[in-house]
Amino acid sequence: MPAYTVVTFGCQMNQHDSDRIGEVLRGIGYLEVKEPADADLVVLNTCSIREKAEQKLRSEVGRLGMLKRLKPGLVIGVAGCMAQQEGERLAKRMPQIDFMLGPDNIAELPSILAEVELGAPPPIRTVFDLERPQFLNAEAEPGRTGPTAFVTVMKGCDERCTYCVVPHTRGPERYRNAREILDEIRRLVEAGVREVTLLGQTVNSYRDPAGSLGAAIGAGETHFKHTLRAVALEDESEFPALLRAICAEVPDLLRLRYTSPHPRHLTWSLILAHRDLPALARHVHMPVQSGSDRVLKRMLRRYSVEEYVERVEALRAEVPGVTFSTDVIVGFPGETAEDFAATLALAERVRFTGFFGFTYSERPNTPALKLADDVPEAEKSARLEQIFELTDRHRREHLESLRGTTELVLVERRGKAGDFMGRSERNEIVHFACAGDVIGQLVPVRITEAYNNSLRGELEPSFVLAPRPARAPAAPSALPKRRTLPVLAGA
Ligand code: 5AD
Ligand code: SF4
Repeated sequence: MPAYTVVTFGCQMNQHDSDRIGEVLRGIGYLEVKEPADADLVVLNTCSIREKAEQKLRSEVGRLGMLKRLKPGLVIGVAGCMAQQEGERLAKRMPQIDFMLGPDNIAELPSILAEVELGAPPPIRTVFDLERPQFLNAEAEPGRTGPTAFVTVMKGCDERCTYCVVPHTRGPERYRNAREILDEIRRLVEAGVREVTLLGQTVNSYRDPAGSLGAAIGAGETHFKHTLRAVALEDESEFPALLRAICAEVPDLLRLRYTSPHPRHLTWSLILAHRDLPALARHVHMPVQSGSDRVLKRMLRRYSVEEYVERVEALRAEVPGVTFSTDVIVGFPGETAEDFAATLALAERVRFTGFFGFTYSERPNTPALKLADDVPEAEKSARLEQIFELTDRHRREHLESLRGTTELVLVERRGKAGDFMGRSERNEIVHFACAGDVIGQLVPVRITEAYNNSLRGELEPSFVLAPRPARAPAAPSALPKRRTLPVLAGA
């Protein structure tokens, strides 16, 4: 059996693509291994959003090139954003690379490998599937599928944030049929998944291409003061209707998350979906990028600080206790000390419980290249440090405030010290001890300790562990079915 490994760089979307690459390869008889040294095929799934992507790729390919000298049959493929963006040029520069695979071409992997085997020049397959967009199903696999899963609802991006390479590497927005999404979630839940995160670059701009969803409650309404443009019903996203359909059709799904929403699609209708759907987690990761209107304008984010904040506040009013995390770029071209102070002020107003901060870096093919990258690197780093200091404090204070509360934790896996690790509804990591196996269950944990990034607690005494079968069952078919709901006594 030939062996493969996928090395993933970058975001959840890339991790999701890597999982699909793995599925396609296992489908044609490949076996997964951890180490490139044990593999016949290594796929580097690249990301170019921020890092010095080309340098990183070069050093990885260089290292694999040495391996290839010892093992001439080794096939090296490059997938993801770098392949999409600069496949041709990179293949010329790095002759060790055997093929290039764009994010929309994963299903073509078997034919690409066949070409490589025949000794063809490195195939470069990086065509966007604009006519008939394809979404590879996340397959439930025994032994692989855990309690949490990602499901893609859309790909590409029609926004034009001036710093961002994604519209270039992932192409225009294409949406998946709602029926396909619902079927995939149902299958995953039947296989034991309890939490699904819907994925998309601007996930909440979703519309069903088959038009099956209809308008959700509150569609077309706006109750915002600062948002002057009322949303025309025919332009409004159908994401809230999708969320409602998922919760109605798959009631055994215990938790539903999504990432990443664009603030301008955090509509009234989406706020009402949060209010009405208990499975929808009380946490939203909503990138703000800057707290200065001047910078937001130059970034072409298409909202103002007040619009962002009023949406946060409107959601907080309908869903008490909801928390927010965010992404911020510091040192965007032209960002003054005053602009940065406005970002600190915004962080102080919203008090994010999760924070991802980045120093601006120029990306190929982005509109911001026309602006001078004029904030010195040392100043960018100093600003980043300053905002981390503030948001670290906010997070620690938030975690501290949870001491003594009881959180419903969806248990994901065993932790290092033999205890269990899971996440609360608001995405806090919680560790606790338990005598039985509670993976995949929603359990009440009383929080006793707050650390920098996580919590520790004890199972509520009221929690009754589901009884295990008294004797080992005779045959696998006699195994008790995975419970669809956790057994909670008195919680
Ligand atoms: N420089 C710095 N950070 C960037 N991001 C995207 N492009 C850039 C860039 N050119 C950040 C944004 C985005 C996150 C995924 O990466 O904050 O939300
Ligand atoms: Fe990039 Fe903006 Fe699209 Fe997000 S919304 S992927 S930051 S262009």
